[in-house]
Amino acid sequence: MNYSDFGKRFNRYSGISHLMDDLSAGLLDDDMVMLGGGNPAAIPQVLEKFQQTLDNLQQRGDLLKALINYDASQGNQAFLESLADYFNSQYGWGISRKNIALTHGSQSAFFTLFNSFAGASGHSRKHVLLPITPEYIGYSDLGIEDHLFVSQKPQIEKLPDQYFKYHINFDSLEITSDTGLICVSRPTNPSGNVLTDNECRHLDKLARRNNVPLLVDNAYGTPFPHIIFHEVNPFWNDNTIVCLSLSKLGLPGVRTGIVIAHEEIIHQLSNITAITSLAPGGVGPVLVNELLRKGELNALCDDVIRPFYQLRCNKVVEWLKQSVNDERMHIHLPEGAIFLWLWFEGLSITTSELYEELKKDGLLVVPGKYFFPGQDNPGKHAESCIRMNYVQSEEDLQKGISILSRTLRRFW
Ligand SMILES: Cc1ncc(COP(=O)(O)O)c(C=O)c1O
Repeated sequence: MNYSDFGKRFNRYSGISHLMDDLSAGLLDDDMVMLGGGNPAAIPQVLEKFQQTLDNLQQRGDLLKALINYDASQGNQAFLESLADYFNSQYGWGISRKNIALTHGSQSAFFTLFNSFAGASGHSRKHVLLPITPEYIGYSDLGIEDHLFVSQKPQIEKLPDQYFKYHINFDSLEITSDTGLICVSRPTNPSGNVLTDNECRHLDKLARRNNVPLLVDNAYGTPFPHIIFHEVNPFWNDNTIVCLSLSKLGLPGVRTGIVIAHEEIIHQLSNITAITSLAPGGVGPVLVNELLRKGELNALCDDVIRPFYQLRCNKVVEWLKQSVNDERMHIHLPEGAIFLWLWFEGLSITTSELYEELKKDGLLVVPGKYFFPGQDNPGKHAESCIRMNYVQSEEDLQKGISILSRTLRRFW
């Protein structure tokens, strides 16, 4: 095919293409234990709530209405109003619907935002600064130009009980005149790290001082879906871009991302949506607006979603410790999100090689090296880590963990 440079760029085989190919191959293979992907768990009470709500919407004709109409390019106006009220009553942010835009999942918001703030800019070339890696694999290939990211490795704090925790290394963090945007996920995919309130305050201060927007990817965060295991203080100001999503609430299929930002940024996002896809999808907003209207969203998150993941996470950590039973396995403190990030110190092979061995043995995980966007050489630590989700059935998780521990024994 005679593709343009743009076409060629998005034809490359990237980390995320690799992951998606393995996931689809794994989905077709009944014997493969799939601990690789990021699909949220199908939690029975959550599914039931969605089903009831859809039934009500259908009876009232609202579902059909959502299906047969384009929303505004900024998104469903009633949902935007409800969201503004919700965040104002929850946190007193003082926003209006002019501060919110919907997108086709938060992934497409990152594409727009990263390329709006970074890349060629007159005579300079701006970058997206990731103050800490490992970071979300989905950021890696979003740039329409090369070298979109500048990032740094984390400080590692070893903790009791085989745990460790990453921190931002503020001593080496450099914000320059070429920094166009700062981005963090909180909770972080893949590590389950939650940046502390202090780290966030520090980043916010640096971002404002340098007049660079700070994007906080809150896909797993609070107030929804609230897959975060201790209380944190979310924040917003007109230099902060908070991105939320309906996906990890259990609705990845509706492709709805939510961006809260300065009005000018919302205008930019709406304009790009209008140009590239006319309008965001309308079904997710109608469904979740109904939960907001009835005041049911917080209870669903706090009483069902968060406890489900917390309980599951605790169980899987115990199974891992018992089955692997080796002090050289370290687990990143699971503070949120739906993954465990495991560090195998002193393994005789890289985790990219381990990944291939595990795949042969019937287990899919994700090797650590993909989670270091902006690092030409992710290094030994990255190649000693893997990410596994803990959303599959307990039976599959136990099967996967025993494959993992058997395979590890061959290489330690
Ligand atoms: C940290 C993080 N942000 C954003 C996304 C993308 O979510 P969405 O489905 O809204 O595009 C994911 C998906 O796995 C994620 O892990």
